[in-house]
Amino acid sequence: TRIEKGNYRHFMQKEIFEQPIVVAQTLQSYVRPFEGKVALPDFDFDLSTVNRVTIVACGTSFYAGMVAKYWFEQFARVPVDIDVASEFRYRQPVLEPGGLALFISQSGETADTLAALRHAREEGQTIAVVVNVPTSSMAREADLLLPTHAGPEIGVASTKAFTCQLSVLAALAANLARAKGRLTEDEEREIVEHLREAPEAMNQALNHDEDIAGMAHLVAPARDVLYLGRGPDYPMALEGALKLKEISYIHAEGYAAGEMKHGPIALIDDLVPVIVLAPSGPLFEKTVSNMQEVRARGGKIILISDAKGLAEAGEGCVATIEMPEVHPLIAPLVYAVPVQLLAYHVAVAKGTDVDQPRNLAKSVTVE
Ligand code: G6P
Repeated sequence: TRIEKGNYRHFMQKEIFEQPIVVAQTLQSYVRPFEGKVALPDFDFDLSTVNRVTIVACGTSFYAGMVAKYWFEQFARVPVDIDVASEFRYRQPVLEPGGLALFISQSGETADTLAALRHAREEGQTIAVVVNVPTSSMAREADLLLPTHAGPEIGVASTKAFTCQLSVLAALAANLARAKGRLTEDEEREIVEHLREAPEAMNQALNHDEDIAGMAHLVAPARDVLYLGRGPDYPMALEGALKLKEISYIHAEGYAAGEMKHGPIALIDDLVPVIVLAPSGPLFEKTVSNMQEVRARGGKIILISDAKGLAEAGEGCVATIEMPEVHPLIAPLVYAVPVQLLAYHVAVAKGTDVDQPRNLAKSVTVE
């Protein structure tokens, strides 16, 4: 079957807007809402035996893995190692018997990730794979196959596959937490409820499409852009910068907000837009003080936060984008939307080839 753009101008735009549906579709396989339980597809493996998770992926899938590291450690208290596949394979990683190695890939064919998977198998790891193409090499070689149900992704820059990966990983974190005795029945029921709120929260984020299109002129002329975040929003900052680089060709860097003063602060002047991802919560105040450091140097801030955060720190920003207030486990799913839309609209403003950016391939099958 041929995949059409329908009323959308680009596949990427269509795929951004499909997210609430495909995330709901994906979550269906990972939660039992009536029982208030998270669940995994059938497999024969006792998660309670997992003492270490090693995550390996490339590109956007790697950033999904970085978010998952925060979740697995915070909710399940299981230590996590993470590497990009091209480094993992050749640095002689120490893999102890009984470990779980988790590979994340949209295509299931990325050469570096596949080579890393085979290496981990040789080293006696149990192989879990989060993959969007069910007939792919990685899917075939998995012990635990954790499919995303994003449907075919055509835009070279990954969007809906990413949020579907995050959905599976959030559910996996909750499953792992339960297996490790870290979740009461009530807490599990609550998490299921929060996961089920994700598609609607993403819809609310999508409602800001026009506002975000109106902000493209703040970013399009820039030579450099900085993305800042803390906790799971740090990998989201990296993903925001990657999206912008991929399709608008603007040099962008994602940084852990607290690390900014160790270097990138030297770049800041009134020509460098600084995009801050900061849901209200325990880390918020710290990020606000980083924003003050930016402002003191004339930096122009675009703040993405919830109503509470914007009330406290929105003043003095050149633009703000209001996200619904959500549980930390689904915040990255929701904050992915404005990050993608901003990159999209900046690319459209610059007139680049959004679906087929120069020099990039959808699936990289050479090492
Ligand atoms: C390429 C694509 C990216 C993707 C990465 C990993 O670089 O352009 O969008 O994130 O490969 O691909 P995978 O299929 O393994 O997720």
